[in-house]
Amino acid sequence: MTISREVRLVARPEGRPTPDLVEVVETEVECGDDAVVVENLAMSVEPYMQGRMSEHVDYATPYALGQPLTGHAVGRVVASSVADLPEGTVVLHEKGWRELSRLRPDEVQAQVPDGTDPLALLGALGQTGFTAWVGLTLVAGLQGGETVFITSAAGAVGAVAGQIAKAQGCTVIGSCGGPEKGEVLRGLGFDAVIDHRAGPVRASLKEALAAVGRSHLDVTFDNVGGEQLEAAIRHMGDHGRIALCGAISTYDATSPVPGPRNLLLAIWRRLRLEGFIVGDHQAHRPRFDERMTRWLADGTVVDPRTEVADGIEHAFDGFLRMLDGASTGKSYVRLAD
Ligand SMILES: NC(=O)c1ccc[n+]([C@@H]2O[C@H](COP(=O)([O-])OP(=O)(O)OC[C@H]3O[C@@H](n4cnc5c(N)ncnc54)[C@H](OP(=O)(O)O)[C@@H]3O)[C@@H](O)[C@H]2O)c1
Repeated sequence: MTISREVRLVARPEGRPTPDLVEVVETEVECGDDAVVVENLAMSVEPYMQGRMSEHVDYATPYALGQPLTGHAVGRVVASSVADLPEGTVVLHEKGWRELSRLRPDEVQAQVPDGTDPLALLGALGQTGFTAWVGLTLVAGLQGGETVFITSAAGAVGAVAGQIAKAQGCTVIGSCGGPEKGEVLRGLGFDAVIDHRAGPVRASLKEALAAVGRSHLDVTFDNVGGEQLEAAIRHMGDHGRIALCGAISTYDATSPVPGPRNLLLAIWRRLRLEGFIVGDHQAHRPRFDERMTRWLADGTVVDPRTEVADGIEHAFDGFLRMLDGASTGKSYVRLAD
């Protein structure tokens, strides 16, 4: 029996999440039969977790009050009664938000191969990168040479999406908050960058299109919704495709948010707006894994990340910092060495 600490949800958010929604609780963890105990090295913090703290989420099960939160984590097996998962094995799983996780073998999502950076399994080589690839490739049907707009482009999914589009020879415009993030995006190869905090996005997007010598967008990968989605619709060309991945600008809303005011343009321009949930596309995961492993190895894609907190007691503060835009690329909490 070993003592661990875990983050439990004790209240549901009304609008923006606040630190008092959770408490950090000590708990005893015992390996027992047909299980492993994993010491978590790092865990992911992601915007979707805000939705699951609410009881109104409908594409996933809401987090239960009084129970630990969940989410992706990577950790090392420190006790095992499973022959295939000996001590020392590094694994990816979804029982994050705790220092030690007891896992049945079917709760281990992947073993991290020797020589692979475990944090990559939370970022470009994990669900984050897969989301970017699914949205661009399977949902938007991106073609080489097209002009692409990516919102929250300096975020975890957006930064990878932009690099995938560049790898296909596309012209890529990204939106982000602040000049520092803009510099990061230029370093990743984005052709133009919009600071959504600096002024109306619609006008900035028009300027960005002019700067890259294009008249319209072919594809938008939207993580933000609201004003940025409206701006994208305004600048789409005929038969353009918009992959609706997220709508972080609306996640704090306490009443229904109006849809884009210019949706009529979707008819005039024969646009396709398609939402997606990455988990529906697991059958394509091996193809993505092969491609992303190669892209990371040859430098086509780099995997920017920010440690938003160190230690389980600070994990929720790290989550809030991620929501506030304090991070670039994949946001993670360090839990152990
Ligand atoms: N459909 C799916 O299956 C799926 C899977 C994974 C993720 N998602 C969604 O995809 C989106 C991206 O996920 P992620 O993990 O990469 O998150 P992320 O983009 O890293 O989210 C954090 C960033 O969001 C931006 N942000 C926060 N509030 C904002 C606001 N009011 N307006 C504009 N930007 C705001 C901030 O960037 P700036 O500082 O640059 O503003 C912040 O750094 C999220 O909406 C997430 O819910 C969907």
